[in-house]
Amino acid sequence: MPTSIGFQDDIKSILIDRDRIAARVRELGREVAADLEADALHTPGDEHAGEIILVPILTGSIIFVADLIRAMPLKMRIRVLSVTSYAGAVTQSKEAKLASEIPSDLAGTHVLIVDDILDSGKTIRLVRELIQQQQPASVRTCVLLRKTIPEALATPCDYIGFDIPNEFVVGAGLDYDGYYRNLPDLCTLRPEVL
Ligand code: IMP
Ligand code: MG
Repeated sequence: MPTSIGFQDDIKSILIDRDRIAARVRELGREVAADLEADALHTPGDEHAGEIILVPILTGSIIFVADLIRAMPLKMRIRVLSVTSYAGAVTQSKEAKLASEIPSDLAGTHVLIVDDILDSGKTIRLVRELIQQQQPASVRTCVLLRKTIPEALATPCDYIGFDIPNEFVVGAGLDYDGYYRNLPDLCTLRPEVL
């Protein structure tokens, strides 16, 4: 039996609180939706050309994407994708590997890849490359967070919620060893927890 099931004692500090996250996600939703709509309306081709497809990367993006799509008043489809880079109790990303099938019906569509955080950039680079092979009409990337480290800054990304310092963060969908995704605020953990 676990000795404690609350998570308040594990938190060192709040980096970005839930209200700031919510406000920024609504702003991002409006911005991304306006750009996608403009593109979609000007796509020549058959009935599927111009469709908007969101590709959230599991599991970290679930909270972010749930809020983002409700701030995007557009017809869209969602195709989730699973990528593993962190396995278990680690705070350094390794090689990004695809852990599910790439959606196969993206030709001619406008794709928005959504992830929780841009760190080494391996995940976003891998997914963008695989999706490009399907010849969509456009591919955009959107992350809630970007760490201000050279690899992340050198990775092209179209929409970024917040730039954050190079610290390990949890909450707002992000985990440590699978836990803390349901913390509403973006937090750092006490060193003894890691
Ligand atoms: P990248 O491939 O190194 O850019 O890493 C992206 C993935 O690593 C994200 O989708 C997260 O799942 C995970 N990740 C990177 N930094 C953090 C962090 O500070 N906390 C929790 N997960 C992280
Ligand atoms: Mg992830």
